[in-house]
Amino acid sequence: MGVIRQQIEELRDSPIIEVFREGFHLPDVIPMWAGEPDVPTPAFICEAASKAMREGRTFYTPNRGIAPLRQALVRYHRRLYGIDMPETRVALTLSGMSAVMLVAQATVRPGDNAIAITPSWPNVMRAMQINGAEVREVMLGRGNEGWRLDLDPVFAACDERTRVIYLASPGNPTGWEIERPQAERLLEFCRARGIAILSDEVYHRLVYDRPVAFSFHQIARDDDPVFIVNSFSKAWAMTGWRLGWVAYPSYALAAFEKLIQFNTSGGAEFLQHACIAALDEGEEFARFFVERCRVAREIANARLAAMPRVTNIPSSAAFYAMFGVEGVTDTLTFCKRAVHEARIGMAPGTSFGRGAEHLVRLCFAKSPELLGEAMDRLEKFVAGYVE
Ligand SMILES: Cc1ncc(COP(=O)(O)O)c(C=O)c1O
Repeated sequence: MGVIRQQIEELRDSPIIEVFREGFHLPDVIPMWAGEPDVPTPAFICEAASKAMREGRTFYTPNRGIAPLRQALVRYHRRLYGIDMPETRVALTLSGMSAVMLVAQATVRPGDNAIAITPSWPNVMRAMQINGAEVREVMLGRGNEGWRLDLDPVFAACDERTRVIYLASPGNPTGWEIERPQAERLLEFCRARGIAILSDEVYHRLVYDRPVAFSFHQIARDDDPVFIVNSFSKAWAMTGWRLGWVAYPSYALAAFEKLIQFNTSGGAEFLQHACIAALDEGEEFARFFVERCRVAREIANARLAAMPRVTNIPSSAAFYAMFGVEGVTDTLTFCKRAVHEARIGMAPGTSFGRGAEHLVRLCFAKSPELLGEAMDRLEKFVAGYVE
C-alpha cells in the first residue's frame, strides 16, 4: 500500500512539463515553452560567484541570507521604489518558486481556500493545493485593450475560509498589469478582511514604457498582509541559479526564519555574492535585456498578427506572446505535435487555469534570427494543422 498523501498523488503535472518531456532531448527544437531567454547569465555575475567560491565562501549561512545581500536588497528597493524597507522584512529564497511555497506554508491550512487570478503560472495554484487549500480561480477579462481585472468577482469569491489572493503583475502568461487604484482597492479589502495578498512581481523589470512595473511595495505599510515574491531569474538571466527573494509583513519575521530554517536552511554563500552583483551592478544588463525583448516582441507581434488562422493577443509587459489558432481547441495536442512536426516548443493554454484554454503561449526572449526561424516554422505548421 502506498504511503504518499492522496493530495500529492492527485496533483496534476503542469502541461508545460508534459510538452517539455516530449522534446527536451531533441537538439533541434527551438525552446519557447519556458520563461527564459537564450542568453546566459552576464559574466560579471558569474565572476562574483566564482571569486567568492575561490575565496572559500563555502560555509553555512544565516537562513535569510548573508547581511550584505539583505542590505543590497534594501538598497535595490530604495533605488527602484523610493522606499526604506527594513532588512528584517526580506529573505533570500532558493527561487521564486520556493518563495511562493513559503508564503503558501505561512498562510493556508487544510480546508482553507486561495483565490488565484487566472490565466496564471500554474505552480502557485499547486503550491496552495499541496498545503491543503482549495484554489478558486477568478478570470481576467479580455477586451479590445487586452486583459483586464474586475475586482468584484474577486471579492465575491472570498468567504471566511479565504486566506490568500494570488496575482502576478506583470502576469505570466498574459503580461497583464494591475493599475495602482485597483491595487489600493484590493489592499483595502484584504486589510479589512484579514486576507493575505501574494503579489508575484518576478517580471517587475520586463516593462517596455517605464524602468519598473508598479509594485505593492509602493502602497503597502510594513504591517500590511502583503507578501511580495521576486526572483533573480528573469531580470538578470539567472533561471538556472534558482534564487529569489520574498518580502513579508514586519510581524512575520519569526515565521519566515522558521520556515526557511526547516525548508532549505538558506542558500550557498558564493551564489549570494552573485546576487549582490546583480542587484548593485545589474542595471545596464537589465536595460540591455529589456531592449532585446522589445525587438523580439515587435517581431513576434508582427509575425503573429499577419499569420493566417492566428489571432494574436498583444500584451504590454513580460516576455510572452499568446495566440489562438482557428479550429484548434486541444492546445496540449497542438503543442506536442508542434514539437515533433515543427521542432518548436510552446506552452498549451490549459497550463494556466481558466481563461486561456484555447490559447498557446510562447516565450519570445530570443535572438531575432532564432525567433524569425521559429515564426517560419510556426507559420508552416499552423497552415497544415488539422486537429
Ligand atoms: C509568474 C511567475 N512567478 C514565479 C516564477 C518563478 O521563478 P523562479 O522559480 O525561476 O525564480 C515564474 C517562473 O516562470 C513565473 O512565471
